[in-house]
Amino acid sequence: MDVYLFSAISGLILLIVPIMFLMWGLAANRIGRLPFRSTREKLRKSAGRSLVFVWLALLTGLSFAGLAAVTLVRFGWVFVQEWAVFILPAVLLTHLAVIFFTVPALWRRSRDRQDPTGAVGGEERGAVAAPRVAVPVQAAFVAAGLSTCQISFFPVLTRFPVRLILFWASFLGLGAWLWFRQRRRERLLRREAKSPSPGFRLMRLVAVTAGVAVAGGGLFVLSMQASKLPDRLSMMNHAKVDYGGGPAVGHGDIEDSRQDHDRSGKEAVSVTELTGPRTGEPDRRYTLVARKETVRLSSGKTIEAWTFNGQVPGPELRAREGELVEVTLINEDIEDGVTIHWHGVDVPNREDGAAGLTQNAVRPGERYTYRFRVEETGTHWYHSHQTSSIQVRKGLYGPLVLLPEVEQEKEQEQALDLSLIYQSFEDRAVLNDSDTLRRRRIAPGTEVRLRLTNADNFPRSFTLAGTPFRVAAIDGNEIHRPGDLENVLLSVAAGGRYDVTFTMPEQPVKLTAGTGPDDPSILFTPGGKGEAPEAPDRLALFDPAAYGKPQRIPFDPSEGFDREFTMVFDGGMGFYNGVFRDLWLINGEKFPDTPTFLVQEGDLVKTTFINRSSMDHPMHLHGHHMLVLSRNGKPVTGSPWWTDTLNVAPGETYEVAFRADNPGIWMDHCHNLDHAAAGMTLHLSYEGVTTPFHVGEATGNHPE
Ligand code: C2O
Ligand code: CU
Repeated sequence: MDVYLFSAISGLILLIVPIMFLMWGLAANRIGRLPFRSTREKLRKSAGRSLVFVWLALLTGLSFAGLAAVTLVRFGWVFVQEWAVFILPAVLLTHLAVIFFTVPALWRRSRDRQDPTGAVGGEERGAVAAPRVAVPVQAAFVAAGLSTCQISFFPVLTRFPVRLILFWASFLGLGAWLWFRQRRRERLLRREAKSPSPGFRLMRLVAVTAGVAVAGGGLFVLSMQASKLPDRLSMMNHAKVDYGGGPAVGHGDIEDSRQDHDRSGKEAVSVTELTGPRTGEPDRRYTLVARKETVRLSSGKTIEAWTFNGQVPGPELRAREGELVEVTLINEDIEDGVTIHWHGVDVPNREDGAAGLTQNAVRPGERYTYRFRVEETGTHWYHSHQTSSIQVRKGLYGPLVLLPEVEQEKEQEQALDLSLIYQSFEDRAVLNDSDTLRRRRIAPGTEVRLRLTNADNFPRSFTLAGTPFRVAAIDGNEIHRPGDLENVLLSVAAGGRYDVTFTMPEQPVKLTAGTGPDDPSILFTPGGKGEAPEAPDRLALFDPAAYGKPQRIPFDPSEGFDREFTMVFDGGMGFYNGVFRDLWLINGEKFPDTPTFLVQEGDLVKTTFINRSSMDHPMHLHGHHMLVLSRNGKPVTGSPWWTDTLNVAPGETYEVAFRADNPGIWMDHCHNLDHAAAGMTLHLSYEGVTTPFHVGEATGNHPE
């Protein structure tokens, strides 16, 4: 509920502030024309109408303040701090001035009953043009204008003192200028001096407009240029380093990553040395060939896909705990190059598949081998991490299932274990390669495990009708003592996974990737026939924070953390790499100006996510599992909730913890891959780890 409330409020604010700007503009314009009314009657009527505009403008300001108050009470200070220090004081000040000075003057004028046909004298013209009448409204217009810029382009508290000074300096400067201008006007009118000729006024208007346009255009071009990313950028070359309150540690040398000691004197290590086992006969050997292919969906629709081995999703890779896996990637014809990232698996850093960070993108005609030992179980997936916002959407992904070492009894004939990956192609919802209803025959009594994976950029709902079921695992991590569920909606984060288990009953069971009748679905039936079960019309949202039973966790959060990081997410408009677009910011910045989090091996790390924007941000940390500690200040009450891709919805705050036990340099980004491509990414870097790889136009590496 709060998620919707927050989205609604932030959407309304984005609407109301510009409306406030518009309303004050209209009011100021009307008041500016008052002195030129020919008769007292006209002046009286016009003052009354101006007053209506002033009231409406005041009303928008009041609604803004009201929304800010609700946000403060429901979501907390951090969600309103910018409004509170930038916008509210300026709005309050100008609105009060309007109420105390402008409103009474207009009111008196609008009730003026003497000699309606009489002409308006210089004294009166001067009186309505007095600065104390007109300037509060003009200042409110300026305040609303600056506020509009503020919420649209600079929504965050970065470079705080500078920006606060700039804001107030522009506000006060413009205010003073308006005052002097208005005073001059008033004097001219009182002396009944001629106002400048229309020709002169037109010329002045043109000159001012041209000046503003030139200045604005210059600023536009300059900020566009300034936002261009360097052609070649090392992941070691970070604008900002955040030690999370822990000791400052080096991360290798910035310029020369071949240097073998970092500042702390610790032996520096390159990511190229942080490999899986380089020798030894693999237990599983897979080859994945990246190539373009026309793929036919179950509806008959075809998509021009980029595939692994000609299929979407790519082939399912399975391995058991303890096994050595070797995957050879061959790029046949993907011009941009390809990599493979093992999403959710804590592989050694060199095997992580992040282009420009742990390897170079694999060019057409090239091959690359990944080797890692399986040290965990669960449902994961793999996908290209080169221009991933394009390549994952095109189909370069597939399921990766890691099974426990020991053969379990259930894994015999009487079991069905099915990977189902959701993606949308050209706005078509697709489950594996099906965009329609499919039937599947299974015998009653069969133990079913559906491995639901969401490869899309947005959270995806799944529903299961016809049987009670359990969520056995989240992001590949088993839930401790999961309870039976029925009539719930499962919302899987972008990049996230839910394992759903049930025992096949005598009647049909239907899984839908969505809630609508046209969403792709599978109908499991005992005899291949039968109709879909009634889907209940009211579904409660499944809550992973209160599901299953508590269990011991491998560390004690009450004993404190070695490092604590905070990521505040905001939306805005601006330039990124020379393009004016919507922006998604971490702590007010986009990559490469986002902070790098530096840790030492062994650190217990806490991260706080705060989403002040109006969109979901599924936060994915490579190489580590995060334990959710709390959501919106309330601790998790059910089974330990481990995740690698956590959806942080608008208005939500999460605290998570992880142990820094996998040295390397790791991406930590939003798995709405379009957001990541717009700079919503940063790195978790271990002390003393360096990388020889670079990103940027000149290098051909574009992880996002
Ligand atoms: Cu599945 Cu860095 O991504
Ligand atoms: Cu995002």
